[in-house]
Amino acid sequence: MKVAVTPHFVVMLVRLPLSLVLLSVLGKIQATELFDRNLAYSSPFINAPHLSHDTRSLQARHVQFVKRQQQLSDTISSDGFTDTHYPTFYGGDFSNSAWIYSGGINFTHSVASGDPFHDSVLLWTRATPLGTPPDQSIPVCVSFKIFDNADLSGDPLDVGDAFTTYDVDWTLKVEAKNLKPDSHYWFQFSDCAKPQIVSPIGMTRTIANPDTPAEEVNGGKPFTLVVFSCARYQDGWFNAYGVAAHNTSADLFLHLGDYIYENLGDGGPIGRAVTGKELATIADYRERLNQYRTDPSLVFAHQKAPWITVCFSPSGACFTDRKLAAVRAYHEWMPIRQVDPDDKLRVWRNFKIGKLLDLTMLDTRQYDRDITDLYYNTVIEDIADETSRSLMGSEQEAWFYETLSESKARGALWRVVGQQIVFTMLEEDGILDVDAWDGYRANRNRVLDHLYKNKISNTIILSGDSHANWVSDLGHPNQSITYDPITGDGAIGVEFAGTAVSSTSTFGAGISPADADRISARYVIENTDLQWSEGSYRGFFTLTLDPHQARATYWAMRNVSNANLDAFASASFVVEAEHIAANKLARPVAGGNVLAGVLKIHRR
Ligand SMILES: *[C@@H]1O[C@H](CO)[C@@H](O)[C@H](O)[C@H]1NC(C)=O
Ligand SMILES: *[C@@H]1O[C@H](CO)[C@@H](O)[C@H](O)[C@H]1NC(C)=O
Ligand SMILES: *[C@@H]1O[C@H](CO)[C@@H](O)[C@H](O)[C@H]1NC(C)=O
Ligand SMILES: *[C@@H]1O[C@H](CO)[C@@H](O)[C@H](O)[C@H]1NC(C)=O
Repeated sequence: MKVAVTPHFVVMLVRLPLSLVLLSVLGKIQATELFDRNLAYSSPFINAPHLSHDTRSLQARHVQFVKRQQQLSDTISSDGFTDTHYPTFYGGDFSNSAWIYSGGINFTHSVASGDPFHDSVLLWTRATPLGTPPDQSIPVCVSFKIFDNADLSGDPLDVGDAFTTYDVDWTLKVEAKNLKPDSHYWFQFSDCAKPQIVSPIGMTRTIANPDTPAEEVNGGKPFTLVVFSCARYQDGWFNAYGVAAHNTSADLFLHLGDYIYENLGDGGPIGRAVTGKELATIADYRERLNQYRTDPSLVFAHQKAPWITVCFSPSGACFTDRKLAAVRAYHEWMPIRQVDPDDKLRVWRNFKIGKLLDLTMLDTRQYDRDITDLYYNTVIEDIADETSRSLMGSEQEAWFYETLSESKARGALWRVVGQQIVFTMLEEDGILDVDAWDGYRANRNRVLDHLYKNKISNTIILSGDSHANWVSDLGHPNQSITYDPITGDGAIGVEFAGTAVSSTSTFGAGISPADADRISARYVIENTDLQWSEGSYRGFFTLTLDPHQARATYWAMRNVSNANLDAFASASFVVEAEHIAANKLARPVAGGNVLAGVLKIHRR
């Protein structure tokens, strides 16, 4: 709207749906609801003021601003107005309200949702002001609505307004409440000042009530988790996210780490150069997240279903300031809940999805981890059997064992453990990756002992990090004595470890399927528990659970050097839960036949 240079804000105010609320902001109201509702301000953790924003001071800043404008409008006539601040605030464009930004919103990164509970879910968007950015005192106001149908018809189940500002990179994260368990929802954001400006519609869902019988979870249909890890922008397009979102019936997306990378890269022949510099400050992290979230497949996957994530980058070795900058930016950009306000780096948590499963997300990368292997740090190999070393930190480790036991006690059928790094031993010519659980063998044995001694069945460990696919039985105790790799007898669980979305294979960048299979063949011979290895294709896997079985299907992307949805299912594995829990891969493993990689035992 083009308007003459006159103080129009009073007129604008009357036209705003929020005017009443804002008038009360001007008055003595202490509440900071419009700021507080945006959880990005309290990111990452509420009771850590040095890490979050004081919404009271943001509100005070806004109120001061509005007062200034009011004085101006009261005292200055339309032709005599000279206040030097004014043009800087508005650039002479009076289509901007003095109270909230009314110059329009660009929902630059579409929408996302995450961390669903049985009655609530987090909704995310980013609302950047269109045109010349406003003065920092002026909030952008965004409304959200959530419906139980794709047409957004009828009464929304929850609605609300919230502010965002440059302080949180224009991100907006609200909790939609009063939802029904185990249900599908559609949501949309709009500009409070210009309600015709709307975001794309997002799809999300809640999880089952913890007490829902296993057979009734997801309306009696199998429940599908999609598992991702390791997406390096410059290494390839994020087609895996797109195939997962377009071509599988995902109920939840899990991301097990390396959602972004901190280093630089020019993207070589595929032209996917990352911008900025090696990440150190919050501005760097925001810029990187901003760039990653332009990949069309990633945008679509965030719009399609809720995400549960653990960890964002491989900075196990970073300095504290850098880690905090990373955590802050990550919490702004991801639909992730603040877990424990007193525990400032905690991202480990448990989701009870009816009596069908507990989904336990661990942080085996960041939280209080003992000395990380830095590849030059050979001391790790010497102390890997030390009983005092913990991969998780003692607090998280104790919580993990309690959670497993509690899960069994409450009668949950499956225990699915999402964590970053490969759990099973992977030896190649006698060499172990001590940056994985192989570097924390005593800790691994404590986990296995806990399952074994407490007869905890139906445990499935999910891992990422290694940029290759690995499927194993968990043999214990004394895996080579009590575990039979042919029949699987003696196993006490399974591990599904998935390859990278795009990061290059650890078997060699661009390695061909045939060359990778030669390496895989050695691995499956050398490692007793390992039943399948594949190292050429980038991709992801799905895990579909019902009361009778769990099925993992691995997806291979044909080409990540351009954006496409060309992929195939390379292998599929079943774990039976019926009768006495089997705790092993059903035989023949993968039906005795795979389209990529190497099985320990092929069907004869
Ligand atoms: C909105 O943001 C997108 C993504 O950053 C950009 O491509 C587009 O040009 C913007 N639209 C307007 C009208 O500024
Ligand atoms: C594993 O085998 C060794 C040697 O036979 C034995 O000393 C040890 O007690 C066994 N451990 C377990 C947990 O069974
Ligand atoms: C992948 O696509 C690129 C074009 O983006 C092409 O040059 C390359 O040959 C393709 N690779 C394979 C293995 O098909
Ligand atoms: C996924 O779906 C898209 C669009 O529906 C289709 O073009 C593509 O071929 C599908 N990919 C696979 C692997 O099925």
